Amino acid sequence: MKTDSHVFITGASSGIGASLARLMAGKGCRVSAVARRRDKLEALQAEYPNIMPIQADVSDHASVEKALHLAKAQNGQIDIAVLNAGIYQPVNAAAFELSVYHQHMAVNYTGILNCLDGLIPEMVARKAGHIAFMASVAGYRGLPRSAAYGPTKAAVQNLAESIYFDLAPLGIKIQLINPGFVETEATAVNDFIMPDLISSEMAAKQLLDGLISNQFEIAFPKRFVRKMKWLRLLPANSYLKLITKFTGHQRRG
Ligand SMILES: NC(=O)c1ccc[n+]([C@@H]2O[C@H](COP(=O)([O-])OP(=O)(O)OC[C@H]3O[C@@H](n4cnc5c(N)ncnc54)[C@H](OP(=O)(O)O)[C@@H]3O)[C@@H](O)[C@H]2O)c1
Repeated sequence: MKTDSHVFITGASSGIGASLARLMAGKGCRVSAVARRRDKLEALQAEYPNIMPIQADVSDHASVEKALHLAKAQNGQIDIAVLNAGIYQPVNAAAFELSVYHQHMAVNYTGILNCLDGLIPEMVARKAGHIAFMASVAGYRGLPRSAAYGPTKAAVQNLAESIYFDLAPLGIKIQLINPGFVETEATAVNDFIMPDLISSEMAAKQLLDGLISNQFEIAFPKRFVRKMKWLRLLPANSYLKLITKFTGHQRRG
């Protein structure tokens, strides 16, 4: 990774995306920072002039097209795209609310597709580029309260793996990011103790190390990821029993 790379980060107004924008800008990268809250993005620019705020809604294709156009006009071709924007709302499927499920898919999955539509043709043409897909360990398997969020992350994991087969041979670096619990606005709604919780600054540091590496999957923190990967191997019946026992989910109702 060149120190003056042009990095396009969605979901850069808070949490992991904002911490990554600061970290990369501090290293000299030209950062196109995308999100809906312009004031938060402008505050980042006040800290680092090499962060360019771009207000956009990733769930809106036209808005993403405009954002990519602005980013390229200001900073030239995009070297690295970190497709990080996402929403998380815990749900109970017993009180099913269709719009919440649609909204999660529109931002966490379709939001990524909207970006790919503008990124891929140009990266294919120059046989270079780097795209990192933000998913979550919550995409590995079903989890309590995760029926709206988890499936979007499982979809992103599958998408990144499938796309790898098409684009990696053309010289485009494809990576999948699977964090455990990170302390951000998104997880502030959780009413349970989050195991192995890390700060967004620590997450950004581990994410940047991963982006520099040649590993397809960037998963952190390691201790929590090891447990989640082990759980992934269990047959469904044993998995559901164990998670029910561990979280007390059914008893709480
Ligand atoms: N925190 C965790 O424990 C954790 C674990 C695994 C994965 N992740 C993933 O990490 C990513 C970042 O989340 P975070 O934890 O850092 O939470 P966060 O602080 O809430 O950040 C979410 C970011 O996404 C942006 N965003 C949301 N909807 C958007 C939209 N429609 N268009 C453009 N931007 C939008 C938000 O900005 P605006 O509101 O300004 O638009 C914000 O910058 C998400 O994809 C999340 O699923 C988080």
